[in-house]
Amino acid sequence: MSQQATEQMYGHYIGGEWRDDDGDTFESRNPATGETLATFRRGTVDDVDAALAAAENASEEWRSLSYIDRAEYLWDIYHELRERHEELGEIVSKECGKEISEGKADVTEAWHMVEWAAGNARHPHGDVVPSEVAGKDAYMRRKPRGVIGCITPWNFPVAIPFWHMAIALVEGNTVVWKPAEQTPWCGQIIAEMMDDAGIPEGVFNMVQGFGDAGAAITEDDRVDTVLFTGSAEVGHEISGKVGGEPGKLAACEMGGKNGIVVTEEADLDIAVHSAIMSSFKTTGQRCVSSERLIVHTDVYDEFKDRFVDIAEDVSVGDPLEDDTFMGPAIEADHVEKIRQHNELAREEGAEVLVDRFELEESEIPDGSDAGHWVGPFVYEIDYDSDLRCLQEECFGPHVALIEYEGDIERALEIHNDTPYGLAGAIISEDYRQLHAFRDRAEIGLAYANLPCIGAEVQLPFGGVKKSGNGYPSAREAIEAVTERTAWTMNNSKEIEMAQGLSADITTSED
Ligand code: UN1
Repeated sequence: MSQQATEQMYGHYIGGEWRDDDGDTFESRNPATGETLATFRRGTVDDVDAALAAAENASEEWRSLSYIDRAEYLWDIYHELRERHEELGEIVSKECGKEISEGKADVTEAWHMVEWAAGNARHPHGDVVPSEVAGKDAYMRRKPRGVIGCITPWNFPVAIPFWHMAIALVEGNTVVWKPAEQTPWCGQIIAEMMDDAGIPEGVFNMVQGFGDAGAAITEDDRVDTVLFTGSAEVGHEISGKVGGEPGKLAACEMGGKNGIVVTEEADLDIAVHSAIMSSFKTTGQRCVSSERLIVHTDVYDEFKDRFVDIAEDVSVGDPLEDDTFMGPAIEADHVEKIRQHNELAREEGAEVLVDRFELEESEIPDGSDAGHWVGPFVYEIDYDSDLRCLQEECFGPHVALIEYEGDIERALEIHNDTPYGLAGAIISEDYRQLHAFRDRAEIGLAYANLPCIGAEVQLPFGGVKKSGNGYPSAREAIEAVTERTAWTMNNSKEIEMAQGLSADITTSED
């Protein structure tokens, strides 16, 4: 599929073939213009069934290849991602509305993940472990779990599929993947890359579609592990169901109500820069985006003035233009959800400082009236644990300023007072404050003097509390897609046990 929008209908990729049976269809639309980009088949339970059967059939042969042979297929994809960087970056921007530097960074993150996973094929995969008994060798080996169901979100439509699939495949599993229904075009291109790379039939399968297809994947007994990145509602449903099934695993990474603490020792240039990026990049639609800025009273007024000035001014517009900072929101329903969050904050007593929810006519790019435009919404509010606006994730350019008095302990108390725990940052020149945050902030990704977005693929990516269980990315995803065998081998003719356990067999004759 090329970069041009097309009339063609695209189907699923199952058992090494493109499958396009009759049935319902859906469209991918450019969120900036409303233009239809392409039309896709909506996956059914039968499509998922066929994909799972193909994945199961392919499993034995795929797992019998060496790590390095499996990784070879991924290296082809690595090169293709790099060669098509500009083109794919534009497709990402067109399909999910991220501004172009973010569209390209998504593709870069994808090849970084492929590089990590394929490179890791040549690295040691276990530990040699000493035994109490000199004649025994003990070591740890990994085995693929089998069939991995991958459900990925629209906001990183190229990177996150590779977080899941590059690792799952190199580790010897077969895959059934459902891309987000908002970004099927990116899904189609990834499936074409797998096909071009000649990955054996059935090893990689893609079913396009909606939540019903996703549920058919996650609920099927043939799936050994579910990797999910997306909303907390869906993630909790998946982890709840899968957790109740013996032998099946789920690793889910979900949203956050991420906070940035700006202490009285902060460099305010860094604070404002980090906060603007964390709150408004990707139009606030990253699971690591910040919706709470917790600012010490000594620097509050200056921080507020500077933050508000920029929030009033950041450019919202055509994602393909280099000078755009924020593209549109993903879809009309999401704009409505952002509106409701803004409204909730007002109802709960927020003092609104910036309200660009409805943009000026002049800010909307020509010919893009059908786009899902929305700008920054910034408010200040007195901290209160009962406020829903400080607890519930909006997933948009919606951010609260919260003034605090006192020491870093107080800042941490406010910071940790959400059901989520994904990402966060502290801005301070005082190493004791930085270390207090590092050690006590209840989050999986913590930053100092930086935005709380932009994690690199070689780090564990995931959260605590409601933000996730398990890490469907990078090194940690290996845990979710493999089983470990603790292998102990006797080099002696005698059997000698550890822990002083007797190896003698006594009988009634003794
Ligand atoms: C997400 O927030 O939905 O850390 C994923 C980052 C990216 C991934 C974000 N590497 O911002």
